[in-house]
Amino acid sequence: MTIHRLRPRQRPVGRGRPPALDGAPLAPESAVEKVPFAVTRISPEARRAAQEVLASGWVTTGHETELFESEFAAYVEAEHAIAVSSCTAALELALRALRLPPDATVLVPAVTFCGAAHAVLHAGLRPVLVDIDPRTATPTPATVAEAVRSCGRPQAMMVLHYAGAPAPVAALAEAARLPLARVVEDAAHALGTSVGDLPVGSLSRATCFSFYATKNLPIGEGGMVTTDDAELAAGIRRARLHGMSADAWRRMLPGGRWRYTVEEAGLKANMTDVQAAIGRAQLQHFEEWQRRRHALAARYDKALAVVPGIEPLDVPAPGRHARHLYVVRVLAEYGTGRDELVEALAARGIGTSVHFIPLHHLPHFQRTALTPPDGLPGAELLFPQLLSLPLHPFLSEAAVDRVCGELARLTPDRPTGPHAHPSRPTRPRTAMARPYGEGR
Ligand SMILES: Cc1ncc(COP(=O)(O)O)c(C=O)c1O
Repeated sequence: MTIHRLRPRQRPVGRGRPPALDGAPLAPESAVEKVPFAVTRISPEARRAAQEVLASGWVTTGHETELFESEFAAYVEAEHAIAVSSCTAALELALRALRLPPDATVLVPAVTFCGAAHAVLHAGLRPVLVDIDPRTATPTPATVAEAVRSCGRPQAMMVLHYAGAPAPVAALAEAARLPLARVVEDAAHALGTSVGDLPVGSLSRATCFSFYATKNLPIGEGGMVTTDDAELAAGIRRARLHGMSADAWRRMLPGGRWRYTVEEAGLKANMTDVQAAIGRAQLQHFEEWQRRRHALAARYDKALAVVPGIEPLDVPAPGRHARHLYVVRVLAEYGTGRDELVEALAARGIGTSVHFIPLHHLPHFQRTALTPPDGLPGAELLFPQLLSLPLHPFLSEAAVDRVCGELARLTPDRPTGPHAHPSRPTRPRTAMARPYGEGR
């Protein structure tokens, strides 16, 4: 099994290990059971499928890509799917396809990945940062209305399903006084999310997915736009490949013609058949992987309920969560700050991450994005508390218990509940040497 493992944060050379927060001696680094933040597994079927494409003589966008598009569209119940090189490219293509005037304003959550805001800028548009509710890390109708009041009526809006949690797409659009036709969803975390009963994929004009190495459907790199609008789909299909009226695959098919036209600017953002073959095979495992994510998230919920000051995020809208990330807030009552906790967990071999540094903390967006004059108090409050814990389908129950045990132990106010003492590895160390290997 091919494994791409994101290592827990490496400590800078020469700084030594931090002392244990509770004064307890740390185990030697080599003896620590590592819990990587994320693990990418490319299934044996996916590797075989990629090899078949590599041997076929056609490796770029072609038949496999078309099959992946139709299977993906069916999965998210959308009429059309266009496979592209990344979610960032998907967002840019979807925004360009709205055909807004240059510099038109687009609402973007203040707490999102920088790629989402880059897509707005590369589409020739202006991001307007919207504050979030610190309980959900997501904009609310009230924060959207505030952004509109203070920065003017926007021309479009990007809605993020943060961590895979369903966002109230229609209510947010209404607060922005925008039709759903002017909403583009950032579903980088949200394959498997439903808002109410409706799968994310056709709730707005265009929905953009990511197949980055750590996402719920990992290919390595890749993205998809889904939409119910045939004209929009055709435009994005052309724009993903230089704006050409026919791609090489179409021109080479029997009866195909060598001539094409280019009527407007396009990107080079197509998906290859190698990626598509991996994606199709990975899709066969998706439900099983989602079940695993849900079970592990439920285990975290239960174990962390007895750790004061570690608070999982609330879900902003009814529906199904895709459980892409398991995000908690490290509140003041925990007694140890988020940054210190990240270091302490890393010293114990536990990888974590922070999603995301608010955009207005990044110099490029300070210069290029509009921010409400009263600032973004929700994002300011949340950012120093945000912490993403390891979550992926190949995480063991023992690893979740160990993370929760360490979290219980690292607070100066130790609870008296089941996590008062660090959990011990439940398997012998030799079995941990290849914790995610094929032999398991
Ligand atoms: C919220 C969000 N939007 C967009 C992206 C961009 O995805 P990609 O890496 O496929 O371009 C990411 C990637 O991490 C993300 O987390």
